[in-house]
Amino acid sequence: MKKILATIAALVMTVSAFADEGMWLLPLIQKMNGKAMKEAGLKLSPKDIYNINGSSLKDAIVQFGGGCTGEVISGQGLVVTNHHCGYSAIQRLSSDEHNYLMDGFWARTMKEEIPAPGLSVTFLVSMQDVTKDLAKIEKKLSKKNFGKQLEELMEKEQEKIIENAKKDNPDCEVEIQDFYNGNVLYLMVYKTYRDVRFVGAPPASMGKFGGETDNWVWPRHTCDFSMFRIYADAQGNPAAYSETNVPLRCESFLKISVAGVKENDYAMVMGYPGSTQRYQTAAQLEQMIRTNRIRIDARTIRQDIMWEAMCADPSVNLKYANKYASSANGWKKWQGEELAFENLDIIGREKQKEAGLTNWIRSQKPEKIAEYGRAIQDIEAAVEKRKDATRAMTLLTEAPANIELISICGTVTNSYGRAIATPGADSTAALENAKKATARLFKDYVADLDRKEASALLKFYRDNAKPEDFLQIPGRDFATMDIDAYVEDLYRRSVFTSPEKLAGADAPTILTDPAYNLFVAVMTPLMKYYTEVRANQDENFTKARKSFTKALMEWKDGEPMYPDANFTMRLTYGNVLPYSPKDAVLYKYYSTDKGILEKAKEYDGNPEFIIPEKLRSTLLKKDYGQWADADGSLHTCFLTNNDITGGNSGSPVLNAKGELIGLAFDGNWESMSSDVMFEPDLQRCICVDIRYVLFTVEKIGGAANIISELTLVGNDKRK
Ligand code: ARG
Repeated sequence: MKKILATIAALVMTVSAFADEGMWLLPLIQKMNGKAMKEAGLKLSPKDIYNINGSSLKDAIVQFGGGCTGEVISGQGLVVTNHHCGYSAIQRLSSDEHNYLMDGFWARTMKEEIPAPGLSVTFLVSMQDVTKDLAKIEKKLSKKNFGKQLEELMEKEQEKIIENAKKDNPDCEVEIQDFYNGNVLYLMVYKTYRDVRFVGAPPASMGKFGGETDNWVWPRHTCDFSMFRIYADAQGNPAAYSETNVPLRCESFLKISVAGVKENDYAMVMGYPGSTQRYQTAAQLEQMIRTNRIRIDARTIRQDIMWEAMCADPSVNLKYANKYASSANGWKKWQGEELAFENLDIIGREKQKEAGLTNWIRSQKPEKIAEYGRAIQDIEAAVEKRKDATRAMTLLTEAPANIELISICGTVTNSYGRAIATPGADSTAALENAKKATARLFKDYVADLDRKEASALLKFYRDNAKPEDFLQIPGRDFATMDIDAYVEDLYRRSVFTSPEKLAGADAPTILTDPAYNLFVAVMTPLMKYYTEVRANQDENFTKARKSFTKALMEWKDGEPMYPDANFTMRLTYGNVLPYSPKDAVLYKYYSTDKGILEKAKEYDGNPEFIIPEKLRSTLLKKDYGQWADADGSLHTCFLTNNDITGGNSGSPVLNAKGELIGLAFDGNWESMSSDVMFEPDLQRCICVDIRYVLFTVEKIGGAANIISELTLVGNDKRK
């Protein structure tokens, strides 16, 4: 542990990392990246970006919901994020009568803003390295020979640190997060606001223009943004929704540059990348690709059925829009990953790296060899040991467990079951509450569609699972049964297919329901495999991963290293750049209005490329106002070489002065292996140009009220 700290300190002082690769930790940028950021063109000091003792840019960057980034763009708590980040909230607020998802929406006054229950916005209050403190305690304790108990005692020590921090930070959530595979620990303090209201978004035909066809692909013309506002109590503290809440006053918010974006301009992204696998061994990567293949195959089947029903009926389309989009996003990502792994020889390169590391370890002193020598093999052994269980678990999760009827049944029986198991609980009331909890699921449920999915998924499962994993459905022989007939009967008899049927069902009916039998038949093996996989993530595996990462860091002593993404705030910096996807082809670094009309024509008849009439006519008139580029066109999206991943969605793209120039929203097809390895020549971050966003707010949404709330700069410096 000590050595690691010394390593970090040493590398920090020697060189500064080059631009592009790296999702850097904010407290370390001054030391690790200061020089290189300046060379890349940054006009701010690292302290302007991150300052623990005063306000800085980081105060304007937020976690949006459970898996995205947003940024504050006005003193009154206005937040902008991606359209695909607001998607599920907007879908939930929509109905056939008020279809905000498909038609778009703009609040003309704050009164018209729509509460979005379940949505939250989180600020990072502080982060503090506690590695040394904990290491000191561990050293003291380990002298006392606690043996196996040491781990538990250390957990208690962490709890103590957390409890103390909570006292100093009321209204906050506190946790200890680990970095570099357990080698570095930070105490993180967050503040979460749960009264978040929908302010506006373009119609999905703009916000998701190009749909799954264009997803993960450049050139792009998606207007991927939506806006929300944070509300707080009169003191500015987080509070549950209340009419008396007020817009959160924000001292830090981003200024917006409308000066335009040029090739080689400095660009940086701050946000919450979710997860990367840059410190995994070849064995882990091979496992990842195997698992992805099962998911792709199962989802192809499910999505085809959803898509057909969605295209046939606008009401079904709205109900399933979010389910489809989130399934399809992973489905396409994994296919791209599989392809890029092959094209870029990712496994081969990883193995080469491991061979280099192994040679280095062998040249070290015996203690080092003892510490690191077995890490790679131990990881491989752990992966091998849980290979079958992982496959079985993935098959169950992606196929039968994805039947919605099972989730509905699970929602009722789980919470009812808990009530029965709790002495003194009123089980009749619990059952009624459990039934109510299904309302949100039923709102977006089409039993007939789910029935088709169920048949197809059960067949897929039977074709791919090992016979010993066949579902034990009472009274049926899964190996030979007529699946269509079984499913037909299941959906006819089950009370879980509609709120009306469920409302009238008593406890005995529910517990003998055929869907409950299926639920148990799926959950029993799923829990078994889940436990098995978890057990194999045992101490040895954790230790091996920690040593592997530590060895890598020592081997590369002198090179700044960033930790894997873990949904903590990071910064990546670089420049605006084009790229060459293949021989003889060069992609420009930006797209324009022209491409929207071109695609609408090229994909005529494809629902993913239909554009609103208002957009078409405005583009034909070239009514771009102050949002036009100096070249007279409307720039829609642009590229940078910033290093991002899922979770960064909605992140601000900032210029050399820290002004907002765009929103990061995607990666490019040619480098889909980017979570595992960064590709300097190929990897790009796809951003929506902030001028396209503001054009849409003003010219398509007619929301001048929003524009007047913003601080626009650079109008005089049009490039
Ligand atoms: N690929 C984007 C990301 O993962 C999400 C895009 C959502 N759009 C869609 N068509 N599914 O951040």
